[in-house]
Amino acid sequence: MATFRIAVLPGDGIGQEVTPEAARVLRAAAARAGHTLEFEEALIGGAAIDATGGPLPEATLALCRRAHAILFGAVGGPRWDDLPPDRRAERGLLRVRKELDLYANLRPAKCFPMLVDASPLKRSVVEGTDLMVIRELTGGLYYGEPRGVERQADGSARAVNTMAYTSREIERIARTGFEVARKRRKRLTSVDKSNVLVVSQLWREIVTRVAKDYPDVALDHILVDNCAMALVQKPTQFDTLVTENTFGDILSDEAAILAGSMGMLPSASLGPAGAGGGAVGLYEPVHGTAPDIAGKGIANPIAAILSAAMLLRYSLDMGAEADRVERAVLSVLTAGHRTGDIAGRGETAVGTRQMGDLVVGALEGGR
Ligand code: IPM
Ligand code: MG
Repeated sequence: MATFRIAVLPGDGIGQEVTPEAARVLRAAAARAGHTLEFEEALIGGAAIDATGGPLPEATLALCRRAHAILFGAVGGPRWDDLPPDRRAERGLLRVRKELDLYANLRPAKCFPMLVDASPLKRSVVEGTDLMVIRELTGGLYYGEPRGVERQADGSARAVNTMAYTSREIERIARTGFEVARKRRKRLTSVDKSNVLVVSQLWREIVTRVAKDYPDVALDHILVDNCAMALVQKPTQFDTLVTENTFGDILSDEAAILAGSMGMLPSASLGPAGAGGGAVGLYEPVHGTAPDIAGKGIANPIAAILSAAMLLRYSLDMGAEADRVERAVLSVLTAGHRTGDIAGRGETAVGTRQMGDLVVGALEGGR
């Protein structure tokens, strides 16, 4: 019997709609196991800019530091797109990742058998896909220095971003890769651009060295451009992938298509293991704010709900409850319920809230 503090950061767009559904599922799952969750909500992203002038109020950061885990929605939207880069809505999320040292981003992409036809790719390609993209999240091109825009007197400009990694940063994400692969099918693919970038050469060297500590895992290396192609050509060849921040951002969106819809993809961003063993984590659907459908109550809450399952598994050490949530989602899908993004032609779609109700119902009725 334990009490856990969960920071709830819905953010913007459909983050506002799907996060409450994930919170309800979390509450129901924890209650079944006899645990109490204390939810505390805070502002981030555009919602925080409107209320306080900045994308990450100090109170939000303080709450995140106190929490056992963070349930996150999405940030950004056209309304805030014209702000300077360091005041944009996205900056709130990037700062939380950095401040909490959430360096390991786990993005599983699994093709659900009943949704094969929701993917724009052929059944023969996506069927059986079950992979995990591990994206380094606090380094690389996103954070490297120097960066900025230099304006010249003649009106021209030069902009700089830097892809930089230390061997220590590479080593810790490589270890995450091997540890995760070990619990899966024991195959790790390291993705880089070592034919061009020195950063990638160091990356490859360190990953190869770390591999010696994991003789039970088979390691291979692939160039990122080739990986982008292979992902849509034969995704079933992959098990666990580990890669640089920007490469992972791009490849994980691509991988989302393999699962049928972005609306199905959860993620976990983990930091160093806390004193209690569990990793401090932020759990977030991969889909983002989806301004085109925001406010309509039609967004698919499954990615957020599966992120809640990852929260139970990785931060609260409630693996059995996480399994239960995943089974509840599967049973709702098996029964034929669909949100608009995954509904086939002629199938009626349920809304966000209804899908949440269905999963909570399956959870409470299930074993
Ligand atoms: C993601 C998103 C973010 C990123 C944005 C919102 C800053 O695309 O989590 O993949 O680029 O990391
Ligand atoms: Mg992205």
